Amino acid sequence: VVVLLILSMGIISLGAIKIGVVLPMTGGIAAFGRMVWEGVEIARELFPTALGQEIELVLLDNRSDKVEAANAVRRAIEHEKVLAILGEIASSHTLAGGAVAEEKRTPMVSPSSTNPLVTSGKKYVSRVCFIDPFQGWAAAKLAFENLDARNVAIFMDVEQDYAVGLANFFKKTFLELGGTVFFEYYKTGDQDFSAQVYDALMRGADAFFIPGYYQEIALIAIQARQLGFYGPLVTGDGADAPETISIGGDAVNGLYFTTHYHPDSPAVTENAKLFLEKFREKYGKEPAALSALGFDAYMVIRDAIIRAGSLDKDAIAEEIRKTKNFPGATGIINIDSNGDAVKSVAIVKIEDGKFKYETTINP
Ligand code: PHE
Repeated sequence: VVVLLILSMGIISLGAIKIGVVLPMTGGIAAFGRMVWEGVEIARELFPTALGQEIELVLLDNRSDKVEAANAVRRAIEHEKVLAILGEIASSHTLAGGAVAEEKRTPMVSPSSTNPLVTSGKKYVSRVCFIDPFQGWAAAKLAFENLDARNVAIFMDVEQDYAVGLANFFKKTFLELGGTVFFEYYKTGDQDFSAQVYDALMRGADAFFIPGYYQEIALIAIQARQLGFYGPLVTGDGADAPETISIGGDAVNGLYFTTHYHPDSPAVTENAKLFLEKFREKYGKEPAALSALGFDAYMVIRDAIIRAGSLDKDAIAEEIRKTKNFPGATGIINIDSNGDAVKSVAIVKIEDGKFKYETTINP
């Protein structure tokens, strides 16, 4: 049985524009789904219409599963008759769901999938985030230049396209800088990383790079510290969930990661200020990067519908890729002809159990 929630904040009018929001609301990366949804809701409350029609959001749960990731997109298009898809979060899921969107000629905007393959060779799938060659470059520079790492153990989640890609992009830059790396492999859902940590210790790692998701990152950090590894821990955007801290506790203090946004990074657009104000007011907490990205994905889809001036899916998909200088919550958004956004990377450090903004690296 599928989990399908139809959420309509306003009155469902017959002429409503339907957007399918496909997210992991349950399962391994449910924290990501929750955060994106919070941002999408803010955007919908502030900007509820396009072309004089109500925008209706249809939330579908991919259960953090690759097969469901494709099924949910199909269901949204075939049964819910959505005009566009907002989603998904993990690159593996957007690759699976994106193949369906492409086949069904339905525009899809991922808030956060950073693997280059997500959009390559496609016309209908775009994103509002940077891609991993840039994120991997930034993380490698951080490790080599700021943290003085020279021999890095890269913990690779072989089940995630995101992790495999980011591991290799990090490696490329790190070798160019003159360092060495080696891989330690694991799978989503693994709990015991002691063999990999011991091996990394034996091979003289002076830093760990862990391009996975929060659950495993937190467990690897705990076991690394327990087994006597005290060097720097660096990860990608997959650590950007409060769960990294709630699961990892003291072990994640000092961890650095690359990400898309931090509420303390300079708010450069009106929408960034508006988003931050509304988010604090509605939820009484600070927004995470994924909430800002969810907000931006909604805003870019809505803006493309307005510029297309019609509900023609091809025209909307084209307009999404013509997005230029759009004022988003995460900064100025420019989407290129491949469907990728060109944006800066934020560096965040965990200190005293909090995410602390360090700096911004421009492309
Ligand atoms: N970039 C990750 C991926 O492609 C998803 C992600 C983005 C997770 C931002 C957390 C924060 O799989």
